[in-house]
Amino acid sequence: MNFDLQLQGQRALVTGGTKGLGAAVVKSLQEVGVQVMTTARSAPDRPLEGVTYVQTDLTTAEGVSELARVVREQWGGVDILINSVGGSTAPAGGFAALDDAVWLSELNLNLMSAVRLDRALLPAMLAKRAGVVLHVTSIQRVLPLPESTTAYAAAKGALSTYSKSLSKEVTPKGVRVLRVSPGWIETEASVVFAERMGAEAGTDYEGGKKMVMDWLGGIPVGRPATPQEVADLITFLVSPRAASVSGSEHVIDGGTVPTV
Ligand SMILES: NC(=O)c1ccc[n+]([C@@H]2O[C@H](COP(=O)([O-])OP(=O)(O)OC[C@H]3O[C@@H](n4cnc5c(N)ncnc54)[C@H](OP(=O)(O)O)[C@@H]3O)[C@@H](O)[C@H]2O)c1
Repeated sequence: MNFDLQLQGQRALVTGGTKGLGAAVVKSLQEVGVQVMTTARSAPDRPLEGVTYVQTDLTTAEGVSELARVVREQWGGVDILINSVGGSTAPAGGFAALDDAVWLSELNLNLMSAVRLDRALLPAMLAKRAGVVLHVTSIQRVLPLPESTTAYAAAKGALSTYSKSLSKEVTPKGVRVLRVSPGWIETEASVVFAERMGAEAGTDYEGGKKMVMDWLGGIPVGRPATPQEVADLITFLVSPRAASVSGSEHVIDGGTVPTV
């Protein structure tokens, strides 16, 4: 079967595309003929030839404006916008460890970066009555881990609600809006984390991995997802083959979320 994703020649902006999931999405899109621009605060260790890298901090309004300016100057606009940037730097210790500065930092990274960038780039999509906006959320929005990720989980919850509302507004005007909600992804950073947890408990990476899976209540498929598996789902969803998919959240967690 020839399963052409029909993405050849499209222009995509992927935020946070130098590491982890974002880097896998950049590579996947490029492999199917998409012109890709991506962002991070620092330059990539292994830049891909043909990909445009823009160094900017997306937690600030100025950083987002600067990125939107580069997009307009180089391309005029984008066909696909993938908001992958996100994460958590909150300390452990439950609610009491989360002061205003931590809350605002988690909200700026996981919610406002996407809100601001969508606001800057959507008008050009709407003018063409075409485009796709995708938000990377997390299963933590329905499965928060209170020891250290309450603010991150709440920010992802807000991102998800925002995404649904945006979809209701702009899908009738030709722009699809989607969410992908990963469980644990085995990125380089999460391997380092599991190794550290394992070492602290006197075991190796496999031991640390089992500890993390236990904290999540287990992963029925028995392992985290690879960045490539999540990138494959995203690549399909932003393609014209998924033209009737909009407003929905697509969980990829190996069965981690235990409820319907
Ligand atoms: N990993 C998981 O298990 C997992 C699970 C569920 C959901 N997710 C979600 O998936 C997405 C990707 O996560 P990941 O784990 O793959 O991330 P990651 O490996 O930590 O990579 C994050 C990327 O974003 C960039 N970045 C970070 N802060 C930035 C900022 N302020 N401005 C601009 N760029 C910034 C980083 O580069 P610089 O550091 O150079 O800026 C990097 O390219 C996030 O939305 C995350 O919440 C991840």
